[in-house]
Amino acid sequence: MKNLYNELKAICEEQFSGRKLVVGEGCTEPNLVLVGEAPGGEEEKQGRPFVGKAGKNLEEFLDILGLKRSDIYITNVVKLRPFKINPRTGRISNRPPNRQEVDFFTPYLKKELDILSPRYVVTLGNFALKAVSEDKNAVIGSVHGSEIPMPHFMLFPLYHPASIIYNPALKSVYTEDLKKLRTLLYS
Ligand code: URA
Repeated sequence: MKNLYNELKAICEEQFSGRKLVVGEGCTEPNLVLVGEAPGGEEEKQGRPFVGKAGKNLEEFLDILGLKRSDIYITNVVKLRPFKINPRTGRISNRPPNRQEVDFFTPYLKKELDILSPRYVVTLGNFALKAVSEDKNAVIGSVHGSEIPMPHFMLFPLYHPASIIYNPALKSVYTEDLKKLRTLLYS
């Protein structure tokens, strides 16, 4: 994985100089790889995926599955923080990744998954679902909580925990999906 990340770092230094890359981390022979969307401000600051607010969501995820952070591998589709600047205040905030960012980073995600060769890949939200399933028409509302066989692993899509903030009704759906995943992982 080091070689892959060094290659990516070199390319990003050329193309996006001065931006901090947030690569994946965790168990190198994982049963489960968790794929998020992109790093936010705290992730960029610390150079690690799913820390800060997103780390709280991750704790709940791991608790329900009975796993520790070090048992799994955690990465994102896009490995630079997508941000926007408010022209009035100059304030920097997160934004969803754009098509170019997703297209640029997706081949690296595929290589990460090839190297890690997990039994399950759990995607969070639509961006990760589309990138991992290679199906641009896939929508999380239709396939969350189901097993989608891929050639080298089983894909298990979940809603992005951030979407629960906007739609609290999804909370119980998300928890039920996670319990289903737990049963699958231990069977
Ligand atoms: N932090 C990440 O690293 N990924 C997400 O998808 C959200 C927050």
